[in-house]
Amino acid sequence: MAKTSSTAAAAPFGQAYFERYYANRGTRVSTPADNARVCRFIAAYAAMIECRVTHILDVGAGTGRFRRPLLRLMPEARYTGIDVSEYACAKYGWQHRSIVDLDRGSYDLVLCHDVLQYLDNKLAERAIERLAERCGGLLYFSALTSEDWEQNCDQSLTDHDVHLRKTRWYRQRLGRAFRNLGGGMFAHRDAPLVTYSLHAID
Ligand SMILES: C[S@@+](CC[C@H](N)C(=O)[O-])C[C@H]1O[C@@H](n2cnc3c(N)ncnc32)[C@H](O)[C@@H]1O
Repeated sequence: MAKTSSTAAAAPFGQAYFERYYANRGTRVSTPADNARVCRFIAAYAAMIECRVTHILDVGAGTGRFRRPLLRLMPEARYTGIDVSEYACAKYGWQHRSIVDLDRGSYDLVLCHDVLQYLDNKLAERAIERLAERCGGLLYFSALTSEDWEQNCDQSLTDHDVHLRKTRWYRQRLGRAFRNLGGGMFAHRDAPLVTYSLHAID
């Protein structure tokens, strides 16, 4: 595990951050086409295992780039976003809250995409416990790992001011409450969802 900067925990997540990583065409990390593709996958997976989604929670929602494409595919769902960024909350209407303080609600689908690398080990572990408490069905989860940094991401675009941990670190902790379905999809072990054993990784 390596933390690359002592300032990561205090990252401001202000306007400049969101413009750099999400708005500016030369420096952004995803396009509207990427967002739509991710949402088609999530919606298809939920439909495939017959998980009816009426409440979606997006934890660390940022610009809310999954909101519109997901609601188009799941028109009966309600979407709630939370974020620690005052800027994002004011601009997009999210609840101003940290993932570690998630203390109410039950959601059929929880999204937590590229958030936990901003938390130190102790807080990230607590955050995974909160996700397990609030998720009653499917979790779509991703976080930049040390393997991703070395092998998968575009280092010229990706924020390195984070806590890089091994994939194994996340899998062990997520595995306590979730079955890993692959592709970033996890099913809560207590959810009334049938996941055939060869469809799950653990
Ligand atoms: C890399 S962005 C990802 C945004 C969005 N999930 C996406 O994939 O587009 C990280 C987001 O996590 C938020 N964040 C960081 N720490 C958080 C925390 N403790 N609780 C909730 N959100 C947090 C930031 O404000 C920022 O919006």
